[in-house]
Amino acid sequence: MRVIGLISGTSHDAIEAAAVDFDLVGERIDARIVASAGVPYAPDLRRRLLAALPPGETTAAEICALDTLIGHAFAEAAASLELDRPADLVCSHGQTIFHWVDGRRALGGLQLGQPAWIAERLGVPVVSDVRARDIAAGGQGAPLASIFDVLLLGGSERPCAALNLGGIANVTVMRPGEEPIAYDTGPANALLDLAIAAGTGGAETFDRDGARARRGRVDSALLERLLTEPYYALPPPKTTGKELFHSEYLGSTDLSLDDLLATLAALTTETVARELERYGVERVVASGGGTRNRAIMDGLARRLPEVELETFEQLGVASESKEAVVFALIGFLTAHGLAGAVPSCTGAGRAAILGTITPGRGPLVLPAPASVRPSRLVLEGFVEAVA
Ligand SMILES: Nc1ncnc2c1ncn2[C@@H]1O[C@H](COP(=O)(O)OP(=O)(O)O)[C@@H](O)[C@H]1O
Ligand SMILES: [Mg+2]
Repeated sequence: MRVIGLISGTSHDAIEAAAVDFDLVGERIDARIVASAGVPYAPDLRRRLLAALPPGETTAAEICALDTLIGHAFAEAAASLELDRPADLVCSHGQTIFHWVDGRRALGGLQLGQPAWIAERLGVPVVSDVRARDIAAGGQGAPLASIFDVLLLGGSERPCAALNLGGIANVTVMRPGEEPIAYDTGPANALLDLAIAAGTGGAETFDRDGARARRGRVDSALLERLLTEPYYALPPPKTTGKELFHSEYLGSTDLSLDDLLATLAALTTETVARELERYGVERVVASGGGTRNRAIMDGLARRLPEVELETFEQLGVASESKEAVVFALIGFLTAHGLAGAVPSCTGAGRAAILGTITPGRGPLVLPAPASVRPSRLVLEGFVEAVA
């Protein structure tokens, strides 16, 4: 079955699309990425989206417009993949506009990008709204990458972690003989992107390769103050987002922009490193745009000299497309009647089959439900260097 996975994360930079061919072979899922692309949001749409996010205020009319326009954009991103044959299914995460949490409990969430536009453009069924069902089952609705991480890396004989450095950083921690856990550790690029946009009047939207952060000096007083954020002390499972780490979070500072960026990169490094240390992680496979920020990646390597730190990219999967592959997998699982959530990771009371299904052009025909639960995923081209 060929599935297109679509997502735009909390950085609101681009729609990541990946077409993946899946085969269910007994307990094993074989996967092959056949195409992938990152399609940046049109600047106007991105501006409108950012304006609607907290701490900004918005209207029902604007949410309706954004739902529609993001639906168009996701449909075009899916259609832009060059494929030798069409996909059988699309799974679209959409764009999170609000993740409603109260302390450690997730109460709801809203993803925009009306799936009808995708189904109409591609003519195939669309799985969408993938977080809601896990939240209804008592979970955080996140991090949903955990099912992919556990199937791909969970067989390791050493404690290992998958780390995604998007707007927010999240980890899936897998230890032999223990249930896997997953949660958001805190901001990865979220505050960095906001600081550089504010500091350059919008001329720069991210710190390319972490060049400014590497020129700057970490301000230890500010770093200490930022580390007192209560979120970091909450036990997992827990999730966060731009509702907390928004444009007014930092307040005003008299640091130079480069020093501020150095301090924020150090905040990411420190909050991630503490969590990896807590669980004695020996190997980390990182993904997301933050893997291109050398201040973060070099900082992690310095802070955790004993830990083997690799990127998905080094292992054969483009770091930005990992999350699109995750949602393609979730679509495949849903289509086969299989749960896409890992309860020990999301905190749900049970493993739910995720999503809402919009039919394609014809009647909705799904594969026969799978009779066995998959226990591992083999991704073609992914170099599983260490056992
Ligand atoms: N070359 C780069 N150097 C530094 N940071 C980068 C680079 N490329 C991308 N990023 C960072 O990664 C972010 C996008 O990462 P992504 O994985 O798409 O996150 P999200 O899932 O939140 O959208 C950008 O906003 C930027 O901060
Ligand atoms: Mg992105």
